[in-house]
Amino acid sequence: MEFFNKKQVLTSFISNLKSNKKTIGFVPTMGALHLGHLSLVEAARKENDVVIVSIFVNPTQFDNKNDLNNYPKTLEKDKKLLAIQKCDVLFAPSIADIYSTTIVAEKFDFGGLENEMEGKFRKHHFDGVGTIVKSLFEIITPNNAYFGEKDFQQLQIIKKLTSICNSNVTVKGMPIFREKDGLAMSSRNARLSAIQRTAAPFIYRVLQNVKQKVSEHNTRDIEKFVKNAFNNHSLLELEYFTIADENTLKPSKNLESSNKKRAFIAVFAGDIRLIDNIAL
Ligand code: PAJ
Repeated sequence: MEFFNKKQVLTSFISNLKSNKKTIGFVPTMGALHLGHLSLVEAARKENDVVIVSIFVNPTQFDNKNDLNNYPKTLEKDKKLLAIQKCDVLFAPSIADIYSTTIVAEKFDFGGLENEMEGKFRKHHFDGVGTIVKSLFEIITPNNAYFGEKDFQQLQIIKKLTSICNSNVTVKGMPIFREKDGLAMSSRNARLSAIQRTAAPFIYRVLQNVKQKVSEHNTRDIEKFVKNAFNNHSLLELEYFTIADENTLKPSKNLESSNKKRAFIAVFAGDIRLIDNIAL
């Protein structure tokens, strides 16, 4: 596996690939890799000549300094996992290489997608995500880029970003990879204490209950059920729960409409924020 930490060196490697007509599959990450990330790499491996993964903990998408400072960093372990997964190139630039003058995000209008759910609780988060992904797409010029449905709102926003920027990148959404007990894999899970880790699969169990209830209950009853479930929980605190339209991400009032819907949830275990969702 090739390793680059300077965008200029990577860019000349990529022009060489392009002149040899190689297709590029790209998986952007913030590292601390787990099987969820690796499932994206596997999908990219199947569909492209060359697979490039980036690891960059992007400061402009964190509204919380603590979360940024505590974000797990495991570069040497990540390199080994990627080599096993037959990744061709790892790009892990420094902050100075990406944000050459100031560490600020560009402002985007994602047509309102950015104002729902995560956007309400993590101010400017999606400006930061848009800024880094746009910049990585410009450096890497992939044919295909792979994103997890774990961050479903992010996936929809990146699709919108490619249309705003007239980008030729095809954005592919991949299913959520879970632990055996149902907990959605996340780099932040590594920060859970043993007791929090035992409690955390409750989140997915609630989502599964929601899915069962959808045919017989209305949105208000389901929201009440979820609030009650977490009110009675000593370790997990509900931040938001919403049933939303997959395309607009706006709350779905009418569960009987034929539009595709998902239930979305954000929960705190101590200071660790976990998100999950389920297709309904
Ligand atoms: P990160 O949280 O490292 O996630 C990188 C990619 O892995 C995202 O597309 C995310 O949705 C996907 N992913 C994470 N957990 C997953 C799981 N359990 N199953 C399937 N896919 C999963 O998302 C980011 O980084 C950043 O915002 C980034 C896009 C890299 C921009 O900085």
